[in-house]
Amino acid sequence: MRIRRLLFTIAISWGGCNGAQSALEPAGREAARIAELYWWMVAGTAAVWLGVIALTFYCLRAPPQSFSKRRERLLIVGGGAVVPGVLLAVLLVFGLSMVPNLVAPAPPGSLKITVSGELWWWRIRYEQPGAEPVELANEIHLPVDEPVQFLLESDNVIHSFWIPALAGKVDMIPGRVTRLSLTPTRTGIFRGACAEFCGSSHALMNFDVVVEEKEAFQNWLAHQAQPAQPAQEPLTKRGHDLFLANGCGACHSVRGTSAKGVISPDLTHVGSRLSLAAGTLPSEPDAFQRWIASTDHLKPGAQMPRFDMLLEEDLQALAAYLKSLK
Ligand code: CUA
Repeated sequence: MRIRRLLFTIAISWGGCNGAQSALEPAGREAARIAELYWWMVAGTAAVWLGVIALTFYCLRAPPQSFSKRRERLLIVGGGAVVPGVLLAVLLVFGLSMVPNLVAPAPPGSLKITVSGELWWWRIRYEQPGAEPVELANEIHLPVDEPVQFLLESDNVIHSFWIPALAGKVDMIPGRVTRLSLTPTRTGIFRGACAEFCGSSHALMNFDVVVEEKEAFQNWLAHQAQPAQPAQEPLTKRGHDLFLANGCGACHSVRGTSAKGVISPDLTHVGSRLSLAAGTLPSEPDAFQRWIASTDHLKPGAQMPRFDMLLEEDLQALAAYLKSLK
């Protein structure tokens, strides 16, 4: 029974290290280096632990008279200072030698993305040479095997931008622009998170990262740059009218309509995103409806007021409209 419980615990904790948000299954050049350092540290600490356990057994079993004063001193100085000192120095030098590579900027001309930490979501801007940046929220697409330069900022509190499978974390500090460069090495869908406690909904501040082939990435970005298609169906048309009539456009933008708000997520292609509300809800009409009607229940402290005064059919129309913004 005990063994079963132990195996279960190991399986559960191991499961937490797998999947889209694992630093131990790297999908980027920088994350691979960090994982390598991690495994060396595991090996180093395991060697120290085994040594200490072996010495403990040795000392318990050896007869007391077998220790001369000189041997005792040798054991304490050697085992207590020299061995750990050398091991830690080797690990330190090994770790520090990785730093220049990890903080080097991406080559000039690389894809440049500005990410702003908001309360509690991510504003994403693809910088376009000679054109307006393409803005969206809570989802980042990247071409595989291409370096990318992130510029990280915040105008509120400190957040920390982290895509564990791709690279290390970097803080977003009000009043500064910090930098992170990375190169994804395999395609897939990964998950990013905020790694610095930033308020009541810190744990509800995630994002999706899609690494894809260059052509698919370029098509996606070209599509994101387009304005929204006009609503076609009676239900989505009603949703569009309700969106404008209820003042949603004061905070949100839907490019191609009169909604031009800038303080909240750009919704031009919100229906195409993989998740809703910064990685906390599935991207489905039901979830849109719940989000609009009970925003602060789903995300405590969210700045968007809940619109629970709307009729059920109005909420349905709004949700259908937002989901149609592909
Ligand atoms: Cu943003 Cu924690």
